[in-house]
Amino acid sequence: MNFKKFESAEKLRGGYYTPADLATFLARWVSKISPNRTLEPSCGDGIFFEAINNSKLSGEIVGFELDEAEAQKSQERAQTLGLSRVNIRASDFLGWALEAMDDKTERFDAVIGNPPFIRYQYLPALFQDRAQAIFDRVGCKFTKHTNAWVSFVLASFELLRPGGRLAMVVPSEIIHVMHAQSLRSYLGANARRLIVVDPEELWFDGTLQGAVLLLVEKKKKATDYAEGLGIYPVRGRDFLQFDPEDVFNTPQSINGKTVEGKWTRALLAPATRELLDELIATNLARRFDEVADVDVGIVTGANKFFLVEDETVQRFGLQKWAYPMFGRSEHCPGII
Ligand SMILES: C[S@@+](CC[C@H](N)C(=O)[O-])C[C@H]1O[C@@H](n2cnc3c(N)ncnc32)[C@H](O)[C@@H]1O
Repeated sequence: MNFKKFESAEKLRGGYYTPADLATFLARWVSKISPNRTLEPSCGDGIFFEAINNSKLSGEIVGFELDEAEAQKSQERAQTLGLSRVNIRASDFLGWALEAMDDKTERFDAVIGNPPFIRYQYLPALFQDRAQAIFDRVGCKFTKHTNAWVSFVLASFELLRPGGRLAMVVPSEIIHVMHAQSLRSYLGANARRLIVVDPEELWFDGTLQGAVLLLVEKKKKATDYAEGLGIYPVRGRDFLQFDPEDVFNTPQSINGKTVEGKWTRALLAPATRELLDELIATNLARRFDEVADVDVGIVTGANKFFLVEDETVQRFGLQKWAYPMFGRSEHCPGII
């Protein structure tokens, strides 16, 4: 963990841009439904406009970008590419989305992009309130452990017309992190089908945050059958040559328990999932917390250091390099 004042400006606005080949793959997938109106909720310097151009996607495009200089770059890029029906607003997407959700005329056939990865605690108070309001608006349980990307996906999906498509680069934590559970459940309930393209390697230089591609098609009617989630594991970038529609249709999707909880179940082979369910049903297996206490250890994020006990410091004469530490800030009351 770091303090907000020590974080780079780039990190605080979640400004890690998408490689052109990934953006083009996503644009190719949404172009299959020939959208009349496409949303890019956080367009940065506009790589998705390049992708839209590469994939011959036509229609109106609405983009948002909070940073004025980046919004300007997007605008210029769209102009250079000759995209005439692009409307870029240099303002907060979430504030606009809250109003747009009530205005039923503001709907999109497709959403593409890569939402900002910014911890909730780092957002200004106004944006924190807006993020929470998005959760409330779509009926999802809110937690302050959330991150900006979650409310961007919720709001973008809500603004899709029935049968519309969302194709985004999102942090791989979508598969498992606790604070995204309400998003997972929401997508599970409202998507006809959703696919996560899960790479073996990191796609973004300069960040340890893994990313995946999320391809979701919204149900046409609430009563439509939900096929659930499929995971498409990839190594390298060869898959980008495939037809994105085939990538979307290939994985066997699973529903039920998988979509209700963490999506990690979808990473298991079907036989392993069955075995797991049988074991739980037979009562032969116990949950870990039935037999032991589960508690968090100390996570410092100070990766140049590691923890040893005083005994080890003594034994190996490490005093010169060792620093004392405490496990929780509440152990040092009064220190700011
Ligand atoms: C991960 S970058 C992605 C940029 C671009 N979509 C791409 O894929 O290259 C996220 C962008 O969101 C912008 N951003 C952050 N907060 C925003 C907000 N509240 N509304 C609109 N854009 C925002 C950042 O400035 C940054 O350019």
